[in-house]
Amino acid sequence: MHLTREEEKMYQGEFGPAIEKSMEILVALGDIYGADGMVEIVSAQISGVSYKTIGEAGLEYLKDLAGEGAQVKVPSTLNPAGVDLDNWEKLGFPEEFVKKQQIIVETYHEMGISTTCTCTPYLVGNVPTLGSHIAWSESSAVCYANSVLGARTNREGGPGALSAAICGRTPNYGYHLDEGRIPNLLVEVDTPLKRSDYGALGYCVGKTVGNGIPYFILKSKTQQKTSINNLKALGAALASSGAVALYHVEKITPEYKTTHANLETLEKISITSADLEETREQLSRCKNKPDLVCLGCPHASLEEIQEVAEILRGKTLVNDLWVCTSISVKAASDRMGYTKIIEKAGGQVVCDTCMVVAPIEEMDFKVIGVDSAKAANYVPSMCGLDVVFDDWKNLISFET
Ligand code: F3S
Repeated sequence: MHLTREEEKMYQGEFGPAIEKSMEILVALGDIYGADGMVEIVSAQISGVSYKTIGEAGLEYLKDLAGEGAQVKVPSTLNPAGVDLDNWEKLGFPEEFVKKQQIIVETYHEMGISTTCTCTPYLVGNVPTLGSHIAWSESSAVCYANSVLGARTNREGGPGALSAAICGRTPNYGYHLDEGRIPNLLVEVDTPLKRSDYGALGYCVGKTVGNGIPYFILKSKTQQKTSINNLKALGAALASSGAVALYHVEKITPEYKTTHANLETLEKISITSADLEETREQLSRCKNKPDLVCLGCPHASLEEIQEVAEILRGKTLVNDLWVCTSISVKAASDRMGYTKIIEKAGGQVVCDTCMVVAPIEEMDFKVIGVDSAKAANYVPSMCGLDVVFDDWKNLISFET
């Protein structure tokens, strides 16, 4: 693998042990995946933040790296943590867990990383442009960045993205190359899609395509104005049942015309309403009413919070409700009065965390209601709780 003179110096330790260690990781990754060299990146998004997922070993690794003077070279943002960093007490997060979590976030902060704690960095200012190279690690954000923004990133692990942030480079292979972005499965969607159908569609196709690149043709005319909220749900689900990092949607995503694919020769599948119904059944593993409904997987946009507030206005919820989002979007929600309406109805706008990486299994909830196929996939395995998957309006109940 070719290294420039500066990269060689990084590798040899001339810029200190943190850069040396990080460059070693990048070179090892590049060798494994057959990269010809490094490519400079314009941003990083780093997973491995919740104490629930990285534990003591991850915490020690980060402290060592920060102790060696690690500093990021490019704008870098953090994935969700395990708790709402401001309102953990009110929400009932366990104190011991919170203390560990605070150390992790402070350690990332010391390295110069923005402690945004969100899986939708593209909603809070980390918005790479078409064709730019980045190193992101949250799988749903990777899918969004590659597909909707047309930026270029592999599905980095937490240490890979952090190393890239510290060196300002990542190995040049996979989705960084034109030939790594060509679709290999044509997916014709024969049914109109609404709301959580996008997640069901992603989940269903992800299982077929694995780590391939699907090219969607949405046949219903109404789909051609699909929102970014639907695209983030689609990508998150594709990335969770499969290992999809990039999808194209005809007439919608930016690279659909330039993929150099001969669509005629691609393997083709059709998705019908019956396929989506079957997927919804698979995802909804429990028939009981949820005691906690969690929305915002991936983290909710301001429009999604507004929609919840409009439905909740003047009503009282029977179930607990979390709308998970970033601190930045919550600030806008506070200003618009949405947070107050949701709180008055008995719900919470929860920042920095989500139903999967928070320790909700320690918080007395039994059945979790979600409108995200990704969350429905992970809540049972990561939290050991029952899950119901549906459109959120069907999940919540009001006092009569
Ligand atoms: Fe984000 Fe958590 Fe879902 S990190 S994509 S809200 S599982």
